[in-house]
Amino acid sequence: MDSKIQIHIWSIIIISCTITKVHSQNKPFNPSSSDSFILACGSTSDAIDANGRKWSSDTKFLTSPNNSLSATAQSQDPSLPSTIPYMTARIFKSSATYTFSISPNFRHWIRLHFYPSSYENFDSSNSFFSVTAGGFILLDNFSVSITAEALTQAYIIREFSIISLDYGTLNLTITPSSSYNDSFAFINGIEIISMPEIFQSVPMVGFSDENMDTGSYTMQTMFRLNVGGNYIPANNDSGLSRIWYDDSPYIYGAGFGVTSQADSNVSIAYPSDGAKFIAPVDVYSTARSMGPTAKLNQNYNLTWVFEIDVNFTYLVRLHFCDFHLDKVNQMVFSIFINNQTAEAEADVIGWSGGKGVPVYREYAIYVNGRSGDDHLWVALHPNVEVKPEFYDSILNGLEIFKLNDTKLNLAGPNPVPVKVEEQPMQGRPMSPSKSRNHGVIIGSVLGSLAGCCLLLGIIIAFIKHNKKRDRDEFSSTIGWLPIYASSRSSGTRSNSKSSGSSNISSLGGGLCRHFSLAEIRLGTDDFSESRVIGVGGFGKVYKGFIDGNTTKVAIKRANPSSEQGVHEFLNEIDLLSKLRHLHLVSLIGACEENNEMILVYDYMANGTLREHLYKSDNPPLSWEQRLRICIGAARGIHYLHTGAKYTIIHRDVKSTNILLDEKWVAKVSDFGLSKTGYAVNQTHVSTIVKGSFGYLDPEYFRRQQLTDKSDVYSFGVVLFEVLCGRPALNPSLPKEQVSLADWAVSNYRMGTLDEIIDPHIKGEINLECLKHFVETVVKCLCDHGLDRPSMGAVLWNLEYCLQMQNNPNGPKIVAERKANDAYAMYAHC
Ligand SMILES: *[C@@H]1O[C@H](CO)[C@@H](O)[C@H](O)[C@H]1NC(C)=O
Ligand SMILES: *[C@@H]1O[C@H](CO)[C@@H](O)[C@H](O)[C@H]1NC(C)=O
Ligand SMILES: *[C@@H]1O[C@H](CO)[C@@H](O)[C@H](O)[C@H]1NC(C)=O
Ligand SMILES: *[C@@H]1O[C@H](CO)[C@@H](O)[C@H](O)[C@H]1NC(C)=O
Ligand SMILES: *[C@@H]1O[C@H](CO)[C@@H](O)[C@H](O)[C@H]1NC(C)=O
Ligand SMILES: *[C@@H]1O[C@H](CO)[C@@H](O)[C@H](O)[C@H]1NC(C)=O
Ligand SMILES: *[C@@H]1O[C@H](CO)[C@@H](O)[C@H](O)[C@H]1NC(C)=O
Ligand SMILES: *[C@@H]1O[C@H](CO)[C@@H](O)[C@H](O)[C@H]1NC(C)=O
Ligand SMILES: *[C@@H]1O[C@H](CO)[C@@H](O)[C@H](O)[C@H]1NC(C)=O
Ligand SMILES: *[C@@H]1O[C@H](CO)[C@@H](O)[C@H](O)[C@H]1NC(C)=O
Repeated sequence: MDSKIQIHIWSIIIISCTITKVHSQNKPFNPSSSDSFILACGSTSDAIDANGRKWSSDTKFLTSPNNSLSATAQSQDPSLPSTIPYMTARIFKSSATYTFSISPNFRHWIRLHFYPSSYENFDSSNSFFSVTAGGFILLDNFSVSITAEALTQAYIIREFSIISLDYGTLNLTITPSSSYNDSFAFINGIEIISMPEIFQSVPMVGFSDENMDTGSYTMQTMFRLNVGGNYIPANNDSGLSRIWYDDSPYIYGAGFGVTSQADSNVSIAYPSDGAKFIAPVDVYSTARSMGPTAKLNQNYNLTWVFEIDVNFTYLVRLHFCDFHLDKVNQMVFSIFINNQTAEAEADVIGWSGGKGVPVYREYAIYVNGRSGDDHLWVALHPNVEVKPEFYDSILNGLEIFKLNDTKLNLAGPNPVPVKVEEQPMQGRPMSPSKSRNHGVIIGSVLGSLAGCCLLLGIIIAFIKHNKKRDRDEFSSTIGWLPIYASSRSSGTRSNSKSSGSSNISSLGGGLCRHFSLAEIRLGTDDFSESRVIGVGGFGKVYKGFIDGNTTKVAIKRANPSSEQGVHEFLNEIDLLSKLRHLHLVSLIGACEENNEMILVYDYMANGTLREHLYKSDNPPLSWEQRLRICIGAARGIHYLHTGAKYTIIHRDVKSTNILLDEKWVAKVSDFGLSKTGYAVNQTHVSTIVKGSFGYLDPEYFRRQQLTDKSDVYSFGVVLFEVLCGRPALNPSLPKEQVSLADWAVSNYRMGTLDEIIDPHIKGEINLECLKHFVETVVKCLCDHGLDRPSMGAVLWNLEYCLQMQNNPNGPKIVAERKANDAYAMYAHC
């Protein structure tokens, strides 16, 4: 039983300060190399994985090798990090035991690797089994395939830390479930690795005078996050081969705060030698804090939410290191765990003693099933009562461990896969990962993106079907003006309820100028083919001149035989003749003679954004130019959403609809599909789905309800196009890469986004700028509109990125009004 020490709260704080700063160990950690085992199960020889780790054959550790067989996976999922150990497995039809002789002096990691595939005649979906080790139940009735499906992961790693066993042998027993007739067990990899004792006595949340000696527990690692930083692979850990993941998928709502990284001239110095085992420097040198604006920080909690199993005690370990401040009481905040105060006055410098010194704090909390809530909440909030200099809070790393219960059990139920159709349609309070991220999570595509994947299937089918018509995406003559009725969803053309369709009178009423057909003919050499600069489903676009060859214009002529686009034509005139904005393309006038429908626009010398990103001979744009273009486009869309009497939803934001004038000023174009007449207090308009594939908001697709957040989604795709220099959809790529939105987000989750950044700009992007940019884009691509930022917030964030890019060390405080824009929507999530 755990020893409960009765100590006054103050002495706890003092004691834990000593404990955590100077890491104490009873036994020095100097294991022999024979105390660690890394096994590729089912493999007959030694092999090296993609990270250079050596995996040995498991055969000689099995007590009865003839009781099992080795098999090879029938297919290789592209997101496997390495074929070793995942492509081979050992299969058990009955109970089997691995025996390891280990040092009795140390705690050990046990890491189990599973890849749910078919292995010869064995289909992993029929496999349910239990795993016990050293008398502890690690897994029970465990289904790899259900777990992987629920977490949308290609493979599963389970990490446990087992207490030192006096007897010097560790038996790991795998038993197929007896509740299923054809059940079998399988495993792909086993790691048994000795580790120092890094667990000690910690206070229990809600019981100010109780401590719990976690050093006597066997535990399962549930989450291990590098807060505000990137994925850290096992070989970059500080000697304990742990994997650290990005924390952003767990952030509650949109209260992302801001991330920061230690300047190169601040050195992160461990307070003692042993402390390096607690977490690597990479964890301490990045952080997430609330933001620059004290007033806003007072109004929200920086919150992470985790799905966990009920009826267990959890150890929550928080890692801190402040690399900006250096005085006590400069920043004081409260830490809440499951809505209870775990720490009222957290002062990182007060704890660590100085700038750049790592420190950690731990709390134990029992989570029962009574409240019906299987979530663990960790929240930070500035403590204004003690009047610190900054109203902010900070976190660098976060680990959550599940402790064994009285039955020496650690196993929980299998998670329940989320069915796409059953997703709640109304804005739920967003739990960032809807899937149950048990154990060590492998950031793959999130459950919430499953909808996109389904959508993608439909989209691909549609693209194949529609290939001929879809000139915009596939023809080599890329028009630079918006092209109507191309690359849009099928079955929605003629019965469109597009607004503004009845209002031809606006042609005369607005700012729009009338042209005679003769003037147009003159200006285009009688529609000479040599003047064609773009072709679309709507018709052709010509370069032309008006006013006696003095003014260069773009002339869009509807194909007279086409009925397509009449509504769009009228809609565009209606809207554009009323709107004037630096970042919206200007309609000069129109001509409607002889059944011709012709629009005349300002000429955009530099064409579309897209033709400066890829598939063209244009020299690549610099990152700063790209950011400025994105900011201009964001201003244009923001104006549409908020600048006019009614909210205007563009509905077809994409890189071919962002045009560039001779000074590279971005102008949003193509209002043929735009929706207006939706008053500010109305949250959406019902409509038939239109837009361009690859850019289409999945929520809009499902619910057919259009909101301004649909434009935010599409704009997010454009931002990734700008960053990665590739099309939103590229059907010639492998399946998982076809959709840029899915591919980039999944790379982001896996920490590999780096690899898909446009190589032309990769070297010039400021890291902080990049992180901020990417976080913003990922937020824009949230499955649920409510979770996406407003266009105003996107704009502010892009401006912030530009500031970071140009002046990374400059003052980071920005005008409060702008920050307000950014945070205004956080309250909703
Ligand atoms: C296992 O099988 C091999 C050949 O199939 C045989 O040589 C060996 O004796 C068997 N070992 C045991 C312990 O039954
Ligand atoms: C481990 O398993 C072996 C063979 O099944 C058995 O002889 C041994 O007693 C077990 N050791 C422990 C510590 O359970
Ligand atoms: C297992 O097989 C037996 C006989 O074939 C059958 O009666 C029983 O219902 C099956 N059990 C399960 C759990 O499928
Ligand atoms: C891991 O460490 C190596 C060598 O220090 C470094 O080059 C690499 O970028 C690191 N990888 C990550 C993902 O941090
Ligand atoms: C780090 O270097 C920058 C630029 O030289 C300087 O402005 C900043 O004050 C330095 N920070 C510290 C902590 O020395
Ligand atoms: C948790 O424990 C309570 C009380 O022992 C029990 O009623 C409940 O079923 C347990 N919940 C789970 C999920 O095991
Ligand atoms: C904590 O508070 C949040 C929001 O107020 C609530 O949704 C959640 O259920 C609470 N969690 C617990 C464990 O009470
Ligand atoms: C922050 O979380 C605590 C604990 O759940 C709660 O009492 C408080 O109201 C929250 N504050 C804000 C601003 O949400
Ligand atoms: C966890 O396991 C230890 C054995 O290491 C045992 O003494 C303890 O009682 C177990 N935990 C609980 C909550 O019972
Ligand atoms: C085993 O897991 C499956 C899937 O989660 C579940 O349906 C079943 O009830 C479980 N069986 C037992 C005996 O717990």
